[in-house]
Formats: sequence, C-alpha cells, structure tokens
Amino acid sequence: MNAISMNTVTLFYLVASVCFIQALKGLSSPSTARVGNAFGMGGMAIAVLTTIALMLKLKQELAGGGMGFGLVLLGVAVGGAIGATAARRVEMTKMPELVAAMHSLIGLAAVCIAVAAVSEPWAFNIAARGAALPFGNRLELFIGTFVGAVTFSGSVIAFGKLAGSYKFRLFQGAPVRYPGQHTVNLLAAIAIVALGLAFCFDGGAAPAWGPFIAMAALSFVLGVLIIIPIGGADMPVVVSMLNSYSGWAAAGIGFSLNNSMLIIAGSLVGSSGAILSYIMCKAMNRSFFNVLLGGFGGEAAGAGSSAAQEQRPVKSGSAEDAAFILQNAESVIIVPGYGLAVARAQHTVKELVDKLTGHGVTVRYAIHPVAGRMPGHMNVLLAEAEVPYDQVAEMEDINGEFGQTDVVLVLGANDVVNPAAKDPKSPIAGMPILEAYKAKSIIVNKRSMASGYAGLDNDLFYQPNTMMVFGDAKKVIESMVKAVE
Ligand code: TAP
Repeated sequence: MNAISMNTVTLFYLVASVCFIQALKGLSSPSTARVGNAFGMGGMAIAVLTTIALMLKLKQELAGGGMGFGLVLLGVAVGGAIGATAARRVEMTKMPELVAAMHSLIGLAAVCIAVAAVSEPWAFNIAARGAALPFGNRLELFIGTFVGAVTFSGSVIAFGKLAGSYKFRLFQGAPVRYPGQHTVNLLAAIAIVALGLAFCFDGGAAPAWGPFIAMAALSFVLGVLIIIPIGGADMPVVVSMLNSYSGWAAAGIGFSLNNSMLIIAGSLVGSSGAILSYIMCKAMNRSFFNVLLGGFGGEAAGAGSSAAQEQRPVKSGSAEDAAFILQNAESVIIVPGYGLAVARAQHTVKELVDKLTGHGVTVRYAIHPVAGRMPGHMNVLLAEAEVPYDQVAEMEDINGEFGQTDVVLVLGANDVVNPAAKDPKSPIAGMPILEAYKAKSIIVNKRSMASGYAGLDNDLFYQPNTMMVFGDAKKVIESMVKAVE
C-alpha cells in the first residue's frame, strides 16, 4: 500500500478546517445548527482518518519503529466508547458539567504531550536524538504546559461547582475568598513565568526538568486558585473562558507536534471561546479582564444553595387560575428558565402556546443569555419543541416590551428575572435581567420558594401583582393546557 503524501495530508487537513469553520458558522443560529453539527462531525472524521493515515506513513518511514499504532487504535476505541456512552446518557441539564470534564481532558492531554515531547523530542521530530531542544520549541512547550495545566485543574473545579452535588468545599458553588487572594494569584503567575523562562533558557542537552516540573505543578495550583473565588451566577462566563483556554492548549500541542490541523482547530476553539466569553461578560455586565485573571463576581450565597428565605407573604394560585388569566390576556411573554429544562416541559409549553394563540393571544418567549445552564440552553430547548423562531426574542429586543405586556409567565426561571440585579449591593448587581417585574401581571411557576443558582431571594415573587403557581413545571403546564378551553 502506498503511503499518503504530505500534500494529500495538507489538502485533507484544509478540507477539515473549512468544515470546522462552516460548523461554527452553522452553530451561530438555531435554524442552521443541525447543518453546523454535521459539518463539525464530517470535519472531525476527515481529520481523524487523515491523522491515522499520516501515522501509517510515519510507521512505514520509520520501518515499523516506535509508533505504537495498536495502542493508538486502542485509545481511539476506548476513548470513543466512553465519549459516546457519556454523550448518550447525559441529560441536557448536565451538559455544562460534561463540557467542563471534556475541557479538563484537553488540558491534561496538552500537559501529557508536552511532557512526552520534553522527554523524547526526537520521537516528535523536534530535535535529533541527544541534541538540545531548540529555544522556540521550549517556549511552545512551556506555554502549552502552562495553559493545559490551568485548563485541567480549573475545569475540574468548574465541573464540581456546576455539578453542585459534592461535599468537598472547593466543589461548592459559594466562592472561596481569603485576604490577599489577588496577590497570591499574581505571585503564583510571576513564579510560573520565571520557572518557565528558566526552562526555556537552559541550553543543556538534557532538559531542565526541575524548573519544568515546578512550573507545571504551580500551573495546576493556579488553575484551582483562579476558579475557586467565582461563584453563583458568574459560572457561565467561566465555562466559556475554560472553553477558550482548552482551545489554546490544543493549539499549543499543535505547535509542539508540528500539526497544522491541531493549530487551526485549537485556534478556532480558542478564539470562538474568547468571543463567547466576551459576549457572556457583556450579558452579565462583567469585565472581560477580571474574568481572564480570575476572581470576579460577588458574594453569592452559592450555586444550588437555598439561602435562608425571608418569611414574607406571597400570593399563590392554581394552574386553572393561571390558565384563566392567560386566556383573557391580549399579550403574554413566557420566560423559560432552568426549571423548565429540568421538567422537560418544552413540548407541553408549545401545546399551551398553540392553544393560547388559537384564542387570539399574542405570545412570545423571552430568552436571557444565561438562562439554564449552558449558552443557548433555552434556544435549544425551544427548538427541540419546534417553537417557531419568530416567537422567540432575545433579551435586548424584548426588554422594552414588558411594561406594555398583560401577563408574564415565568417558567422555572429565577435569577434571570431577579430585580435584585438593580441593587448595587447585590451579588448580581449590574447583571442585566429580563424585566418581568414591569408587566401588569406576573405568573411564576416553580416548586417552592427556593432560590435559583445564585442562591438569592427574589423580590419578584413577593410583588402584589405576582401569583405563584407551585409544582413541577410539566405537571402545572399540563393542567394549564387542560384548563384553557
Ligand atoms: P435558576 O436561577 O437556576 O432558577 C431555576 C429555578 O427553577 C429554581 O429556582 C427552581 O426553583 C426552579 N425549578 C427547578 N426544577 C423545577 C421544576 N421541575 N419545575 C419547576 N421549577 C423548577 O435558573 P435561571 O433563571 O434559568 O438562571 C440561570 C442561572 O444559572 C443563572 O444564575 C446563571 O448565571 C447560572 N448559570 C448559567 C449557565 C449558562 S451558560 N446558561 C451556566 C452555569 C450557571 P424550585 O426549586 O423552587 O422549583
């Protein structure tokens, strides 16, 4: 069998890269997201097959030496099986944890490859056996290890915080703060740079393992340090930031391995993650640099925690009462949130909306950029139920309309409609919200008075024009559907 030529490898890598760019373009809108995903899968298949062909070529050139091809196939089979099983089993609401776990693996892979390249550079065609690593390669390996290690440990902490079900303190949503935190982080970063430069400038044939290992260890610690002070409602920005870091880590490996595909794919993930972080920061009214440097956000009571609720009177009603109000309204805005996803009630909501529009009610959905637990969560949910896109409005387009709306129906949402964001002393101060509190009547469905992800009480629930309808979203909405004549 003739080995694949380098020109063919480059051509296929180029095709895969174009597919990845098309995938990102497709994913920018719910209507084209499926096509985008198909491009992504196609691109990845081309990239993997081309890389396997490239390895076979190298194996032939090296006369069967040292490629461990069987091990690679075993890795593909085991890793692929674990990935496929995890993806099949994961619930939509657990996606952010899965994503954080994936980011951590990319970071760890970057560190492992860098260690292998420092240890045996000749196996990567970086330097001749026994020769010193060139300065440029040392620099790449230092940066790749640093970014990879920060990504790994930061993603592990983010995974724990997003899961919200571990007792370990660092895995809990409430921020971990201590005096001089920023100084400690800064000193750790300076030490990492100093150790990295010591590794880079050591010209000896044997690598300077001491500074390299110390730099890697400190980078793992820094990853933990920059994520622990972040809590509550600010986690979405962290997820997209780690997404970006994992891309840069992959690009770093690409430079070490001289693999153009990895450089391109890593840079695409890195830059799109950075753009997403920027968009998230804007949505949350946070500073991009604070996020990059870690340790922003407020003194949130913590993800998933139920802060002590005040004993204030609330007005509650039945699903039938709510159906009556909705049916007699002219305009309704629905605010979907995380609870709607948990209850998997998207199809039932669509049924309700179809009935209401049949009665001449104008209904629209208002989407907050961080509603749910992952970017675009609510868009995906509504797309699954085939809600027409023209009924769905983004926050900035619909916020001006709440004041003239008869009824706002809040379904399993909490933080994204919390007027506490207007209070400068609140932990979510400055975060833009869907201004549901301005509507003539508000109906809120959730199971209890428990707080949302940021762990804060919500004044909206106590407004005189708010009616709470307690219960699981799916059951409550089903009853509403039955009650609308
Ligand atoms: P949350 O503030 O988390 O509130 C969701 C509400 O849904 C809870 O208060 C809960 O109250 C209710 N709920 C849970 N299960 C329910 C069910 N089966 N039926 C009815 N209600 C149910 O959600 P949100 O308003 O969508 O805001 C999202 C929050 O998550 C923000 O703080 C955001 O920063 C954070 N976050 C977002 C992301 C991304 S990227 N979107 C990622 C990580 C974190 P009960 O327990 O009383 O029912």
